[in-house]
Amino acid sequence: MSEHRVNLTINGRRHAATVEARMSLGDYLRDEAGYTGVHLGCEHGVCGACTVIVDDRAVRSCLILAVQADGAEVTTAEGLADSDGTLHPVQQVMREEHALQCGFCTPGIVMTLAALTGGQDKADEATLMNSLSGHICRCTGYQGIRRAARRLAAEPGT
Ligand code: FES
Ligand code: FES
Repeated sequence: MSEHRVNLTINGRRHAATVEARMSLGDYLRDEAGYTGVHLGCEHGVCGACTVIVDDRAVRSCLILAVQADGAEVTTAEGLADSDGTLHPVQQVMREEHALQCGFCTPGIVMTLAALTGGQDKADEATLMNSLSGHICRCTGYQGIRRAARRLAAEPGT
């Protein structure tokens, strides 16, 4: 198996590593770089649990290889809050709406919502609600998660 050097910026920190060609970005982030907020469920692009932000876009980290992310800026759930502990608006709203449940799928949902609300062109309610369909929550219910998404679409500054 061939090995490759990669350089990534993860949550604002530079990481240089040698990875096998077949290693997914999710496995690298979780097992090699120590970002255990990256949760791996199905490992084939269905459940959404492994979602991270790569260069401002929500990406399923089980579906891309670490070598494909060479040179990218990656944000995981660990990188969302401010250094003083102030939660990211998506985290704050999820908390207030009791949208956490067991928490397994939560980092992926938070990263998708953060990617869709973080830029200049904040997504509308329909887009945020549709984005939830890409996240399989085994705790079911979804009502708290849906309330959080609605608030993110409606409230300025989130
Ligand atoms: S673990 Fe990546 S989509 Fe399920
Ligand atoms: S909160 Fe338990 S799987 Fe979604």
